[in-house]
Order: sequence, then structure tokens, then C-alpha cells
Amino acid sequence: MKNINNGFFLCMLLLLWCFVHSGISIDPFSPSDSLKTECVMKPPRSSETKGLLQFSRSVEDDSDEEWKIDGSGSIREMTQRIQLHEGNIYSFSAWVKLREGNNKKVGVVFRTENGRFVHGGEVRAKKRCWTLLKGGIVPDVSGSVDIFFESDDKEAKISASDVSLKQFSKQEWKLKQDQLIEKIRKSKVRFEVTYQNKTAVKGAVISIEQTKPSFLLGCAMNFRILQSEGYRNWFASRFKITSFTNEMKWYTTEKERGHENYTAADSMLKFAEENGILVRGHTVLWDDPLMQPTWVPKIEDPNDLMNVTLNRINSVMTRYKGKLTGWDVVNENVHWDYFEKMLGANASSSFYNLAFKLDPDVTMFVNEYNTIENRVEVTATPVKVKEKMEEILAYPGNMNIKGAIGAQGHFRPTQPNLAYMRSALDTLGSLGLPIWLTEVDMPKCPNQEVYIEEF
Ligand SMILES: *[C@@H]1O[C@H](CO)[C@@H](O)[C@H](O)[C@H]1NC(C)=O
Ligand SMILES: *[C@@H]1O[C@H](CO)[C@@H](O)[C@H](O)[C@H]1NC(C)=O
Ligand SMILES: *[C@@H]1O[C@H](CO)[C@@H](O)[C@H](O)[C@H]1NC(C)=O
Ligand SMILES: *[C@@H]1O[C@H](CO)[C@@H](O)[C@H](O)[C@H]1NC(C)=O
Repeated sequence: MKNINNGFFLCMLLLLWCFVHSGISIDPFSPSDSLKTECVMKPPRSSETKGLLQFSRSVEDDSDEEWKIDGSGSIREMTQRIQLHEGNIYSFSAWVKLREGNNKKVGVVFRTENGRFVHGGEVRAKKRCWTLLKGGIVPDVSGSVDIFFESDDKEAKISASDVSLKQFSKQEWKLKQDQLIEKIRKSKVRFEVTYQNKTAVKGAVISIEQTKPSFLLGCAMNFRILQSEGYRNWFASRFKITSFTNEMKWYTTEKERGHENYTAADSMLKFAEENGILVRGHTVLWDDPLMQPTWVPKIEDPNDLMNVTLNRINSVMTRYKGKLTGWDVVNENVHWDYFEKMLGANASSSFYNLAFKLDPDVTMFVNEYNTIENRVEVTATPVKVKEKMEEILAYPGNMNIKGAIGAQGHFRPTQPNLAYMRSALDTLGSLGLPIWLTEVDMPKCPNQEVYIEEF
């Protein structure tokens, strides 16, 4: 979080924290809590409290008295610190409202004893209504933290109500997850075995063998699979879906201007098709200036750049039309803006528009990194990724695009912030579009498999 001060301001609560063990809190696992949380006139009161650590402004206070936030743009000490214990998950929630301005980012930040800032979650707060800010922290050491509200507006004055921090052991968290899996991902299936004349077969025995998981668990695939039977067997026996690491990218398929070569991508797609593996296209374009074919950044004339860019979109999307389960259309266009800088502010949106015309049935992703894995991130936060998708869908002609969010998920080799991830998914989920974890990885570390299972 070392670059937190780069144009990024922290505001601070006045010293109103107090410990209580009852009051209002938000269940991070309640899907209904993630609905209607964006602009409500009066925060709903929930009664769930049991066994939880809880901070609130007042227990019995039912009025809309507001917390006042100092908008000085600097960090100040708080007298009330909160002790956290390693191994627990702390889920944060608060209703927030702006006293000045409108639609400003408001987030929660935890400052640990060693001065590290942990982003705990964020929302776009409004002036005339309350918005639910959710998130949290999973501390990797026990110790005290200071809790701040942050805003990207130096002048922000924030009101907060029903601030709460709930503690979950990992077992409790897992139990909640399992309960949701039972409820949402499983259903009862009834088999009926009859003769052709529709009378029941008495004493029929049914046996079911699962040959592959139906959950779309995938893995990246690279061109070496074409050269190795071992790789092919290993892959085909495990995975239902893939993306090619580099083989569909522009810098691979058109290394030299005008000389397209789809040999590797075509062969890999053929292997996938023969083995019932779905392919998610990655990527039509990439908004990072360093990730263009080497000859592209040398083009200075915008008309010429537009020509080759449109040619690229047409070429790759026509070639694979109807064969892919989705496309990253303009990869990482929240972090980067190469095409916007070169071709105009609506470049991405217009490319999604063309992509939609070329292959209307394919799912089209906004695919970003650091959105759920919460590193030192102030750019592609859940709120901003959501807004990018909304911007693309609002572009004339894009209303019916089958949009989706790709959260890459490049985790650091440390305890993932599961509470933050839940809130990030809630924010992205409020779009009502599918969310995919598209590039999940974590470097080797002592608890790697535990962490991977957790996220
Ligand atoms: C239906 O078909 C089965 C098997 O052919 C037979 O045993 C049974 O008597 C039939 N039931 C009726 C109502 O026709
Ligand atoms: C196209 O790419 C393949 C490898 O992916 C390579 O073997 C082949 O030589 C290339 N063709 C041309 C014409 O460059
Ligand atoms: C667009 O670029 C292609 C080569 O990439 C070239 O053949 C064509 O003439 C260009 N068209 C225009 C109108 O510049
Ligand atoms: C971008 O698109 C919006 C409509 O979505 C339009 O109002 C605006 O003028 C466009 N801007 C440019 C630079 O084309």
C-alpha cells in the first residue's frame, strides 16, 4: 500500500467507536443484503448478532444521527483501536452517505501496527441516500488495527451509520460457505424408470458415475501441448475449459504487419474441440501499450492505426465465430487506455460494439487484474470495473451484449483477504452478469494449497 498517498486521500472518523455486543450488523453471506444497498433512504435494521464482535455507534439509538468524518485529507490517529487475531476473518459493514458532493468513492482502510494499509472494500457513496459499504480483513498476524474511511475526494465529508465488524473463525466461514453451496449450487434430482408403456420398473437400480466435474474448472494451455502427448493426456483428463496463454493474442497471430499466422491457435482449438474442452478467447485486443505487436506502436497516424485495429478485430473474431465460449475484447481496459489515447475516448466501447456485430452470441468480458485479489490497488477496483462494464453497455448499440466480468485473480503468496473478496464479488455481482475467475494463480509459499482452497 506504499503508493496510497498518490492522489488518494484518507478521511478519518471522529472518535465515536465504542464496543457493544448487540445492535445492527450485516451478514456477509446473506445475498439479500447485497441487493438494494446502493441508495436507500433509511438503512434497514438487521437483528443478526450472535457470537460476534460488534462495533456500533449506539445500541438502542434508532435515529439517523450521523457520524462525522474529518475531510482533512490526512491520516490522524484514532484513540479506539481494534484488536484482531490471526486466523480469523473480519467482515466489515457500514452504511455511508456523503455530506458534500455526490458519487464519490468511499472505502474502508485498515492500518496495521507496522503501518501497512489494507484496503477493506469500497462503494460509490451518494449524497441523499445511504449505500452499504462491505468488506473486511483477514490479518496474517495478531495485533491492533486502526480503521479509517477513505475517499478519492479530498473534500469528502462522510456520514456513516451502523458500522460493524464481525469476527468469523475459518471454520465458521467455511460452514457458511457450505450452507450456501447446499442452497444455491445443489438441487434434488428425481429419477423415474419406466417401461415403454409408462409403468414403473419395480426394484430398478440406478448407478451414476461422474466422469468429469460439471463445474467449469479450467487451466491455461500453451502451444507446447501440440508437442507433448503427456501434456495432452494430463490436460484432457482434468479440464473442461481453457484459455490459450498467448496463442490468440495479436502479437502472436500478426507478428509482422499483414502476415497473419493462426497455425498454433487453430491446432490448439482443434485439440480442445476433440476433447470436449471449451475455449475462452483471450484476447481480441489489449489496452496495455506494451502488449501490442512490435510494429503497432510505431504507427503514428490514427487512421492507419484504426485500420489495422479494425482488421485485427474482424480477422480473429470472424475466424473463431461460434467456436468460443467467450472473448476478452479489450483486455485490461480499466488499468490501461492505449486505444483510447490513440483513437478516442470511446475506443473500447466501439470495439465491443463491432465485436458484438461480428459474433452476437459470444459472451464478452471486461477482464482485469487486482479486482478481487486486492493488492496495492486503486485502479481496477470492483467499483471501477463495474463502471467500465456499465459504460460499455451504455454505448449506443451495446445494450444486448452478453457481458461478463473476468477477475483475473493473481494472488500474492500470503493469506488472501476473503472478506474483501466476498464484498468485491457482491459489487461486481450487482451488475447481474456472470463473473469468472479467469487467470487464478498464486506463487509457491508454505500455505499455498490452503490459500488456494480458501479462495
Ligand atoms: C408394461 O410393460 C411391462 C414390460 O413389458 C409389462 O411387464 C407390464 O405388464 C406392462 N404394463 C401394462 C399396464 O401394460
Ligand atoms: C506459423 O506459425 C507456426 C508456429 O505456430 C510456424 O511453425 C510456421 O512456420 C509459421 N508460418 C509462417 C508462414 O511463418
Ligand atoms: C489498411 O492496412 C492494410 C494492411 O494492414 C493495407 O493493406 C490497407 O491498404 C490499409 N487500408 C487503408 C485504407 O489504409
Ligand atoms: C462517446 O459516447 C457517448 C455516448 O455513449 C457520446 O455521448 C460521446 O459523445 C462519445 N464521445 C466520443 C468522443 O465519441
